Amino acid sequence: MSHFTILPATDADVQELIHVLQMTLGKTAMYAAMMPYDTDGSIQRMMHEGRIRGALRDPAVRLFKMVVSRRVDTEVTGPDEGEGECAGENESRDTLCGCVALKLDEGRVVKSSSDGSVRTEAGDAIRSITSLPGGNEDALRAILEGVARLYDGMSGRHYGIEMLGVLPAYQNQGLATRLMEHCLRITDSESPSLPTWLTALPGANSVYTRHGFVGVDEDVVDLNAYDPTGRHLGSFAHRSMRRPPKQPAGEKA
Ligand SMILES: CC(C)(COP(=O)(O)OP(=O)(O)OC[C@H]1O[C@@H](n2cnc3c(N)ncnc32)[C@H](O)[C@@H]1OP(=O)(O)O)[C@@H](O)C(=O)NCCC(=O)NCCS
Repeated sequence: MSHFTILPATDADVQELIHVLQMTLGKTAMYAAMMPYDTDGSIQRMMHEGRIRGALRDPAVRLFKMVVSRRVDTEVTGPDEGEGECAGENESRDTLCGCVALKLDEGRVVKSSSDGSVRTEAGDAIRSITSLPGGNEDALRAILEGVARLYDGMSGRHYGIEMLGVLPAYQNQGLATRLMEHCLRITDSESPSLPTWLTALPGANSVYTRHGFVGVDEDVVDLNAYDPTGRHLGSFAHRSMRRPPKQPAGEKA
């Protein structure tokens, strides 16, 4: 019998969180294009570790883990070891099987470009990642420039949902839905007048639309144009999605 619990993540969870991100987000074509020669996954691990430790340090971010506890029967030998009966005993084994981050983003605009479009702090932070040891610079630039543009559309104070992942063995059981609900209960009770934003990878849309997120903008990158290994990675579509505030400004609770 399995039991699932959502808890705040801590420094002690870093290695298991890296594993979750590597087995979920890390399996997408985006990572394959950005790190074509990362055969042992070491570059990815480094990238995920930096992101997780950054989230754990950032007071504006709450990083949650989904833990599955499984009761397992263990054989226990009595005082007369090797003789007599073996008694069965229940032991609980915990595995970290999913995660999500909720950020309260001030949405500060760092500069306005000449065409009137905005550049947010978050967008500029993404744009500033121009290299990665062993990474594919051209793919990295094309993908992250697009992601940064999506983030620039999220100006104004808002919540952001990031790093949603559920280990493949635990998918399609409603766990991502529970992680989303956990975050949205916080947003709706803490600051109901703020919208929530996220960027969605292909395949995760239904989890988001179910919770009232609506697509706002999209960035599509032809990954084949940047892949030196000729793997036919196809095109990669990344969408920004917004959930309206539970309580629009001006409305009283
Ligand atoms: C996207 C992802 C987080 C979804 O996780 P998940 O735990 O499988 O999601 P859920 O189980 O909540 O929902 C998935 C499906 O299971 C179904 N489901 C929901 N509750 C269920 C339950 N109790 N029992 C069985 N199925 C259920 C849902 O209807 C949904 O089906 P649909 O998409 O056809 O509507 C996971 O696939 C993943 O980690 N993917 C790789 C990384 C990624 O894309 N992350 C998102 C970044 S934007």
